Amino acid sequence: MALEVETKVKQDYAQELKAKVKAHAAVVAVVGIGYVGLPLAVEKAKVGFPVIGFDRNEERVAMVNRGENYIRDVKDEELRKVVLDGKLRTSTDFSELGNADVVIICVPTPLTVHREPDLQYIENVTGEIAKHLHPGQLISLESTTYPGTTEEVILPKLAATGLEVGKDFFLVHSPERVDPGNKRYTTQNTNKLVGGVTQACTDVAAAFYGETIMKVIECSSPAVAEMAKVFENTYRAVNIALVNEMALLCDRMGISVWEMLDAAFTKPFGIQPFYPGPGVGGHCIPVDPFYLAWKAREYDFSTRFIELAGEINLSMPYFVVQKAERILGLQGKSLRGSKVLVLGVTYKEDLPDMRESPALKVIQLLMKEGCEVEYYDPYVPSMEVQLQSQGTYEGRQSARLDSVYNLSAEKVGGADLVVVLTGHSSVDYGSVVQSASAVLDTRNVTTEADDTIGNVWMM
Ligand SMILES: NC(=O)c1ccc[n+]([C@@H]2O[C@H](COP(=O)([O-])OP(=O)(O)OC[C@H]3O[C@@H](n4cnc5c(N)ncnc54)[C@H](O)[C@@H]3O)[C@@H](O)[C@H]2O)c1
Repeated sequence: MALEVETKVKQDYAQELKAKVKAHAAVVAVVGIGYVGLPLAVEKAKVGFPVIGFDRNEERVAMVNRGENYIRDVKDEELRKVVLDGKLRTSTDFSELGNADVVIICVPTPLTVHREPDLQYIENVTGEIAKHLHPGQLISLESTTYPGTTEEVILPKLAATGLEVGKDFFLVHSPERVDPGNKRYTTQNTNKLVGGVTQACTDVAAAFYGETIMKVIECSSPAVAEMAKVFENTYRAVNIALVNEMALLCDRMGISVWEMLDAAFTKPFGIQPFYPGPGVGGHCIPVDPFYLAWKAREYDFSTRFIELAGEINLSMPYFVVQKAERILGLQGKSLRGSKVLVLGVTYKEDLPDMRESPALKVIQLLMKEGCEVEYYDPYVPSMEVQLQSQGTYEGRQSARLDSVYNLSAEKVGGADLVVVLTGHSSVDYGSVVQSASAVLDTRNVTTEADDTIGNVWMM
């Protein structure tokens, strides 16, 4: 009898939390208010949940509290409104985690310099959550990571508090799948995976996410959800590598890879469009597959597709520089001393995100070859390029470049070569082609331009 009462009381935590969620009264803590966390915090606040955003970055915290936005996918007026309405506030004081019913972890998961998972951010946050964990809390890890992280890294620290998972607190992995800049698919209409440590964990999390997201898909464990997310990004990395390899082969065979792909993608089934480029960038594609590759080694398993895709994608900046050298050579010039104007340095068009951008590598290589490099990017006023001095690693230096302010005909015409690395839609590529002596287009954005003088080379 006593046991029954005990069980009933414990089960009530799930029911109580679901009731709070249904009433949008559950206090939601979003830890890490970056590209993923801030849009999520605003989404939840918009539908009435009281939201507290936590971050170590004091500037970000202060900005949000002033109603100021710094993430492009968030609408300024929506952020301002939820802050003014008192639905969203931010803090650097993690003791406030104790006030939260739902804690969502959105901190970075980068690689170390040896290309191994760097879980320090998840570990730090887990330590803070454990200090303030109380019965009735749902903890959801949204950061991308290798299968096993939720149960092997987070669960032991939370369970060490003496609280029982699935009864006292609820733990899930629910990967964020946002595609920054995508106008069609937002957090709200992108299917949400939820994998709980127990079925009760999954149920509570599905109830929570179901309030704001159109479709929630339950996975039988956190590991399935973790693996699904890294597989999605691996799928992209591998397919991008495949078209990049085709670009290298087409270049050698004198076939336009762009025309070939356009032709191939007219098939209405069995094929999906991917396009080549100067490399891969962003927080996900160049990073996440290596989380899986690292974990696989624990099982004596080598993820060969991942390694091969990484090798091909990492080689693309070198190919761009080789091709630049060939184009300059056709004009009787060499890389050394040539003026190269790079157009676009962010990893993706029409976004201000420089993380892992292949432009960083291309510019580094061009500068090492002795080019005089300038760049134009309306989203990046200045950038830091790592340069290794000859011979010694210790002498690793960096150079700061400022974006060309005005992409004038004189500026374009003054360069020996213009290299398009990111195809921002605000740039008039027709005018660029008209004014440039030579253009290397790695993004297929000059096709509409009138290239009567034959000064455009496609990747
Ligand atoms: N950006 C994307 O397109 C995208 C898409 C899907 C998934 N993800 C994944 O989401 C996670 C977050 O990525 P992001 O792009 O939002 O990163 P981000 O760098 O934009 O934001 C992370 C935030 O966490 C903060 N932070 C770091 N350590 C902290 C700590 N100990 N406590 C509190 N805050 C801390 C940082 O200051 C930063 O503001 C990563 O795992 C990433 O792989 C990103």
